[in-house]
Formats: sequence, C-alpha cells, structure tokens
Amino acid sequence: MLIAHLTDLHVRPFGKPANRVVETNLMVERAIRQVAGFALDAVIITGDLTENGLPEEYAELRRLLDGRLTCPIYAVPGNHDRREIFRTALGHWPGIGDHPDFIHYIADIGDLRLIMLDSVVPHAGHGELCARRLDFLERALADAAGRDVIIGLHHPPLLTGIAAMDAIPLRSPEPFLALLARHGRVRAVLSGHHHRVIMAQSGPTMLIAGPAIPGHQSELTFDPAAPAYFYLEPGGYFILRRDGAHLTATLATIGDFPGPYPFAVDADYPGRKKSDQEGPT
Ligand SMILES: [Fe+2]
Ligand SMILES: [Fe+2]
Repeated sequence: MLIAHLTDLHVRPFGKPANRVVETNLMVERAIRQVAGFALDAVIITGDLTENGLPEEYAELRRLLDGRLTCPIYAVPGNHDRREIFRTALGHWPGIGDHPDFIHYIADIGDLRLIMLDSVVPHAGHGELCARRLDFLERALADAAGRDVIIGLHHPPLLTGIAAMDAIPLRSPEPFLALLARHGRVRAVLSGHHHRVIMAQSGPTMLIAGPAIPGHQSELTFDPAAPAYFYLEPGGYFILRRDGAHLTATLATIGDFPGPYPFAVDADYPGRKKSDQEGPT
C-alpha cells in the first residue's frame, strides 16, 4: 500500500506568488505530476491548501488537482483555509461534507482506518481540538478498535524549539495524545503547518510534520527570539508505504536534480563479495 502525504500547498489565484516570492501553484503542479507516477492507494492533504481561503484560490486548486489522480484525495483545512469556502469548493472530495460544523471524517484505505481531523480555530494561527472534536475522535477510535489507524490534521501535536512555530501550535495536545495511547494502534499522525520535516514519537505512534509542498520551509533556528522567516528549500512530500504491519515514511523532494546515476562501485569497495574481488579464475 502506498499513500502520498501532501501538506501546505498555499495555492494562490492564477499567476500570483505567495509571500511575494513563492511560486506555490507551479510547485503544486510539479508535485502532482510526480505523485501521479506512483501507484497510490490514497493522497492525504493536511491543510493550508490555499494561502488565503479565497474562492479563486480553491478554483485554481481544483484546476491543479481534479482529474489528475486516480486515487481518492482526503483533505482537511489549515489555518490558511476558510472552512465554509473549503467545504463548498471541495465538497466533491470524500468526507468533506460529512459533518455540518467541522471538516472531520473517517475513511478506509484497505484495512487501514484513516481519521481526518479539523484543528482549525477561525481567525487564529494556532489549532485546537475542542471537546466536540475530541469526542468525534474518541468515537472514531472506538469504532476502529483492533485496527491500525492513521490520523491526519493540520497542526502537529508537538513542540519543535522553533519559536515562530511553537507560537502557533496545536494547543493542549495532551487529551489527543491520551486517546491515541489508549487505542494503541495509531501508527502515524500526519500533519503540516510547521513548513519543515519534523518527527517525534508518542508511544507507538509516529508524529510527522511534513514539508511545505512549495518549499518555503521555516528557518531552522532555536533562538527563542527569532522572528518567522522562511528559506526557499526543496519542496517535498512523504510517501508512506505499508507492508503488513510495517509502515515507513519516505521523503520525496521536488526539483531538478542531476541523475539518475548507477551505484557503480569501485573495485576497492570493501563490501564487495569476496568471490567478486578475487575475479574470475
Ligand atoms: Fe502552511
Ligand atoms: Fe498552517
């Protein structure tokens, strides 16, 4: 089973960059062309699909994604989206219209149960899971007892040491993490928001914050007074591969890189089989 995890697309109206310098739409187009080359079972998108949640941005997003992939797309909003416009524009995607208030839903990818959560707080950059959303999660996990689960949401339930990101976290993640621990088979929590690959662990659960697809990654600094800056690093996404109970997450980057070159080893390579080193007799 192969799943692509995309996040933080920040699509703008046609022809306009984000933050004045980030060609988000072009990078999303390249990412989707690349992602379409894998035999995917699903694509999961964890928020900030657009930069400002404008109808014309969702129209551009639909132009870039709809009809480009043969597998289902499971998405939730981020702090740069607007829930109601998101719901209207993307209501044809699975799960989006399942709940009248929040954009949260469950889906099955083979034997894997996917739970998508809405961590958005309108008019705020941080996220939270209120009592109603935690109740939804608790029920969804109870319904998936004994099954492997993946959760997707925008705000990562982890602190990073990057001050600008830790200022807008998923607030009060403890009850969320406690529900995961009680279930015991949540294999991964997929998120974005921090615009940098960051991983942590909570019990048996891998917590992943993916890179921003367009490549505007947060400055890596642990200075507690550092303001929010980004660098244009390679954009990317994760490919999750599930083989039995084994789940791996492999980072894929988007860009023009020389290659492919064969791993042609030298005669002196110490890992050569002894018989090869001796050569034909
Ligand atoms: Fe973002
Ligand atoms: Fe965000």
